[in-house]
Amino acid sequence: MNFLEKVATLDRIPERYRDMSVNEKRERIAAIKQQLGKRLFIPGHHYQRDEVIEFADTTGDSLQLAQLSKANRDAEYIVFCGVHFMAETADMLTTDKQRVILPDLKAGCSMADMADINQTEHAWTELQKLFGDTILPLTYVNSTAAIKAFCGRNGGATVTSSNAKAMVRWAFSQKERLLFLPDQHLGRNTAYDLGIKLEEMAVWDPISRELICEGPMEETKVILWKGHCSVHEKFTVVQIEGLRKTSPQTTIIVHPECTFDVVQAADLNGSTHFIIETIRQAEPGTSWAVGTEMNLVNRLAQQFPDKEVFSLNSTMCPCLTMNRIDLDHLLWSLEEIVEGRPHFQITVDKQTTEAGNLALKRMLDRPS
Ligand code: 13P
Ligand code: SF4
Repeated sequence: MNFLEKVATLDRIPERYRDMSVNEKRERIAAIKQQLGKRLFIPGHHYQRDEVIEFADTTGDSLQLAQLSKANRDAEYIVFCGVHFMAETADMLTTDKQRVILPDLKAGCSMADMADINQTEHAWTELQKLFGDTILPLTYVNSTAAIKAFCGRNGGATVTSSNAKAMVRWAFSQKERLLFLPDQHLGRNTAYDLGIKLEEMAVWDPISRELICEGPMEETKVILWKGHCSVHEKFTVVQIEGLRKTSPQTTIIVHPECTFDVVQAADLNGSTHFIIETIRQAEPGTSWAVGTEMNLVNRLAQQFPDKEVFSLNSTMCPCLTMNRIDLDHLLWSLEEIVEGRPHFQITVDKQTTEAGNLALKRMLDRPS
């Protein structure tokens, strides 16, 4: 049985949850939250469904949730409403006594899956041959624990979309070059904002195992891993051009996981936190086309009815893996905890945790 087949057998949610009314599910979750009190902590990423966010003890972007998980020392159970790499990060940052649970094991991240540790070790060996000991690895937190540990072992750090600029600046105070994993777009957009030319960036393709340079190889400063977010790649320049014609008064704001051309064509770009705060502080009556995950865009539209908020892509759907966590899976996890058989616990081994924490600490200790 391969891993996916094993996951499929594990995640057979009992029929009773399908048959239960939404009200009953909501009442049961509220009752368990009351019963477990501080023993339970439910962080919810901004891209989660409304029905899940309703029960989150806190909401945030990747950086905020990492910081809050680290700060929480009371909760015995952290039921992480987000995706697998976030639950791994929470496990690395919390104590051995705390258990981190992901309500649906299929809530992965296609971007994190685009860099595995064997590909990374191989790329590192090849890049050292080309550039010697001049490279510092940085990884977006949207990566496996093994990649974070790789960065930790090699003097590097993690970054999020909220602190990417500060971390890239820091990386250049350590080494002449950097390897940015696994999102080429966040890496390119951030480096360009800091004045690095496109010709000074190269792309490492882990499938063809080659370095693709825009300019002379020896002038390369940033090596971008060829990975991307399948959600944010669905925003295009054609959509922006269309909107400029039909709705010139609309401000276009996008996440830096979007492609370089989209970020350049938009009016504003920034992390999930930046997008939320910018729209919150905007004048009533203003119009916003947003290039990020759909659950968040819909929630912003509901939260700020005095402003017009809509998706830059009119046929956009939510991030499928974020969306796997629903009321049924949340309730199922909580009931299993109460029954004394918590399931879908995410654990990162000790060695990986120690090295991964070096990378996380270098990020969390720095002001963004
Ligand atoms: P942030 O929460 O860092 O903005 O990341 C967005 C994202 O894609 C999370 O998966
Ligand atoms: Fe991964 Fe993109 Fe979904 Fe975030 S939005 S979890 S980066 S696939």
